[in-house]
Amino acid sequence: MSRPLEVIVVGSGVAGMAFALRLSALAGKRGANIRILSKAAPEQSNSNAAQGGVAAVIRPSDSWEQHRDDTLAVGVGRCDKAVVERVVKEGPECIRELLRQGARFDTDERGELEAAREGGHRTARVVHRGDRTGAELVRVLHEEVSRTPGIWLDTASMALELLVEDVPEGRRCTGVQTLNLTTGTVTLEEADAVVLATGGAGQVYRHTTNPAGATGSGVAMAARAGVTLRDMAFVQFHPTALYAPDEPGTFLISEAVRGAGAVLLRHDGSRLMEGVHPMVDLAPRNVVARAIHAEMRNGGVPHVWLDTSRIGRSRFTKEFPMILEHCWSLGLDPLTGPLPVMPAAHYLCGGIRTDADGATEMPGLYALGECASSGLHGADRLASNSLLEALVIPRHAAERMAAAVPRMDKWEARKEIGRLQLMPGSLTAQALRQRLRDVMMDGVGIVRDDAGLQAAADELLVIKQHVDGLLHGGERSIELLELRDMVLVGRAICLQAMLEPCNAGAHWNTDRVQQCEPMATSQA
Ligand code: SIN
Repeated sequence: MSRPLEVIVVGSGVAGMAFALRLSALAGKRGANIRILSKAAPEQSNSNAAQGGVAAVIRPSDSWEQHRDDTLAVGVGRCDKAVVERVVKEGPECIRELLRQGARFDTDERGELEAAREGGHRTARVVHRGDRTGAELVRVLHEEVSRTPGIWLDTASMALELLVEDVPEGRRCTGVQTLNLTTGTVTLEEADAVVLATGGAGQVYRHTTNPAGATGSGVAMAARAGVTLRDMAFVQFHPTALYAPDEPGTFLISEAVRGAGAVLLRHDGSRLMEGVHPMVDLAPRNVVARAIHAEMRNGGVPHVWLDTSRIGRSRFTKEFPMILEHCWSLGLDPLTGPLPVMPAAHYLCGGIRTDADGATEMPGLYALGECASSGLHGADRLASNSLLEALVIPRHAAERMAAAVPRMDKWEARKEIGRLQLMPGSLTAQALRQRLRDVMMDGVGIVRDDAGLQAAADELLVIKQHVDGLLHGGERSIELLELRDMVLVGRAICLQAMLEPCNAGAHWNTDRVQQCEPMATSQA
């Protein structure tokens, strides 16, 4: 009997863990050894931070066709319709499976699942657990991963590069080069298949709702290996991050708060979204973020207001306990007054191009979740479709891999090739990182123009040259290695934005025609 399938998963969020569990269940007699490598614990992933929930059709009055149409409308016709249909049709089964695995979602007094409403959805279909749904999914999947033989979770490893070999059919991914963050050991780890599930890249922007690890490492590794990146211009800004300039991070106020009735106000107390879009405060995120951006720029103000008074004290306290607690910790009280909010980078709609099974163009390489561009999101992402995608596409990736991935002829588990003397990031690296985040926010942000994009591209090139100089000069810090990825991803966003011929969804260039004609729905 041949040996087990050897698989490396990079990233320990929902997509990576859901994939590992599915593959383990499908691997059959030959089995699979699945190593999940991650810079940090699953609880620090982007998935864990997700407040809203999982979009899925759970009410008889709803239908997968309506969910599909809302997804396509927000994606402005740049979605792959077949992928959209696959994902939305499998939503209810994913929820049932999570319930079987022990997930606790909010229910009504009859014990039926509650559904919240978010932007772009014509109906309430977001299954949630208070305002900590991502954390609930991570809890369930992490527990299951911990008790599943054949899955190993290593939370102190940073993947540096993909290993790629020339084979008769072209090039094949054969593993990853990793850095142990504790010891500095650099290792070549071979595998029959590699799955990138590294999450987003929000850290390339000055203001982001993403956690510290969202530096775009998987996207950068794939690009360095020559794999195609698609739709990078489309960076979704969440309209309502809390404006708290003295805080180190940027805290999200879930869209479900507007779904429950909160409204955006100008500084004079008037409704911001009235007359802007028929869905007013629940318009697609790019529409709301641009309206706030315009108000901030025209009014010279650093934020607008989110009035939560229509929700009522008891409902707010029950449905948004984490938000309430966080606001209170900063001396803000949504139960008695409006919250100051501003847009912040939230989700990379594009990424590593894959097919509907998460397979990239490079044999042996898959990409799942936010780092991937499966064709689901198109030009903007329908709220809470990302956790759904992170549950559905991994099922198909696992099925395809279990059925079709060949074993390598000669497989060597691990080979240590050196040890880095890791040092703290230099002041220069820190300054370059800050500069990158400012350049991206100001030149490649919510509203762009040709001159600003060109200036950003020029400056990003200079930052890249400085980063390369520090690397060649011998600086070996985790901060600098992350910065190398961030610069690559930032440049990819900027350069693809410069090539976008017209405006759609999350990409808005004031020097282009106002809006694209929706394209044909398949662009696979
Ligand atoms: C939110 O709760 O507003 C974020 C959910 C999402 O981005 O899908």
